[in-house]
Amino acid sequence: MNFYVTTSIPYVNGEPHIGHAMEFIMADVLARAARQQGKPVIFCTGTDEHGGKNAEKAAELKLTPKQYVDQMSDKFRGLLKLLDVSNDRFIRTTDPGHEQRAQIIWKNLAKDIYKGKYVGLYCTGCEAFVTEAVAKENKGVCPHHNKPYESLEEDNYFFKLSKYAPEIQKAIDTGALAIYPVTRKHEILQVIKSGLEDISISRPKQKISWGIPVPGDTTQVMYVWWEALMNYITVLGYPEHADFKQFWPANVQVVGKDILRFHAAIWPGILLGLGVPLPKALYVHGFVNIGGEKMSKSQGNVIAPKDIIHRYGTDAFRYYFLRHIPSYSDGEFTWERMEAAYNNELANELGNAVQRTAVLIQKNQNGIIGDIPPAEHDTAKYWEAIEKCQFDRALDAVWEQIRGLNQYIDEEKPWELAKAKDEEHLREVLAYQCSALIEVADLLEPFMPTASKSIKHIFSEGVIRPTKTTLFPKHDTKKVADKTA
Ligand code: MSP
Repeated sequence: MNFYVTTSIPYVNGEPHIGHAMEFIMADVLARAARQQGKPVIFCTGTDEHGGKNAEKAAELKLTPKQYVDQMSDKFRGLLKLLDVSNDRFIRTTDPGHEQRAQIIWKNLAKDIYKGKYVGLYCTGCEAFVTEAVAKENKGVCPHHNKPYESLEEDNYFFKLSKYAPEIQKAIDTGALAIYPVTRKHEILQVIKSGLEDISISRPKQKISWGIPVPGDTTQVMYVWWEALMNYITVLGYPEHADFKQFWPANVQVVGKDILRFHAAIWPGILLGLGVPLPKALYVHGFVNIGGEKMSKSQGNVIAPKDIIHRYGTDAFRYYFLRHIPSYSDGEFTWERMEAAYNNELANELGNAVQRTAVLIQKNQNGIIGDIPPAEHDTAKYWEAIEKCQFDRALDAVWEQIRGLNQYIDEEKPWELAKAKDEEHLREVLAYQCSALIEVADLLEPFMPTASKSIKHIFSEGVIRPTKTTLFPKHDTKKVADKTA
């Protein structure tokens, strides 16, 4: 019955962008939908604050790592608020609770940890140890960060990941650990079948001091990914807290496609080593691109969520990223598509249905709705889509209902019933419209919480209760053309 959902925790070495925002709102839909079903929910997100990537940025700005991460973590919190994300917890990997519990986890994994020498490559941009094969394929330069891999020769602790490979493979194969979409399941199975090696899990303190100390060895700190993954259980109070006992395993962990291997191979390894159950499902979203290009600082095409929200509002932002970025693949943000989605779907279809229903009732029935018939649509498709994290399909299902309602209004022509003084029929038609809109509002709650609330406010009390502002007022499209010119 309990429902636990997480997002990955972003690094704080840059401003939050629309890719982070999309992940937050996707997890938010799952949390809100579960609450609507009456389940006790813990929804957790946070920030990943250790490691070379964050430390380098702090040094660049002549701040201590702590000063820098404090300031940046607040920006991510601010974004969550702006997005109307309903997370119950926000974990920072610099929280003392996380640091202490990460050390407990290290000790509990002692049987699978050994000391060795790592001779190989590393990319600080990815915070990843890079295998020979990958380095060769990329000719020694990281394709994501355009920087030559750093070559390391250092004492590290290693984790016996190879030992758990068969069990991890089986869990994924059988669906005990479900991975959506199935293409990502095949991708990771391929990786696991080609051989999971033991992994480095620490760095020498001398080289990188911004990390959690390895218990019993003052010369080493934990590898940033290694301890960051643990956030999903440290935040619940692993090992002793009631929340951990009641909410773990997670129902869904939401992550992006670039960090699949960490979540579908290393993370299950940690859990198996601890004797803790694996999460039930991993949902892997794609990337948001801008005009066909990857969003990146060097391209100068990074879009801040607030720039979009400023023009369209939070609900419209959520709508675009949940419906117009395919839930199972990469997608595109363009201002033109955002404008079209806003005007055609939110203003013309949804906004109009609300507006014309409310106005007709006010004009012809003094605002009195009368008895509203119960909801009558089959919502199986919608719930199935949410179950599989197909947010786009869930919204398609809602829009089918909205279009159906508009068609009903066009066919019944309540304004003509009013002219003909057919009061009884008019009352019936308008009451049905209200019922359909309340039903739509319920379905929209996880996706567009404010719009949902305002539709319910207008129609739910038997009389029309006007709101101060129109829902999704239509935009003058010329302005966006000027803006993007
Ligand atoms: N700190 C790690 C995650 C640790 S989880 C224990 C990390 N951080 S990140 O900031 O690089 O990425 C955070 C999330 O944002 C990832 O799921 C990543 O896939 C997602 N995105 C980053 N850029 C993105 C897009 N352009 N589009 C969509 N999501 C993308 O990885």
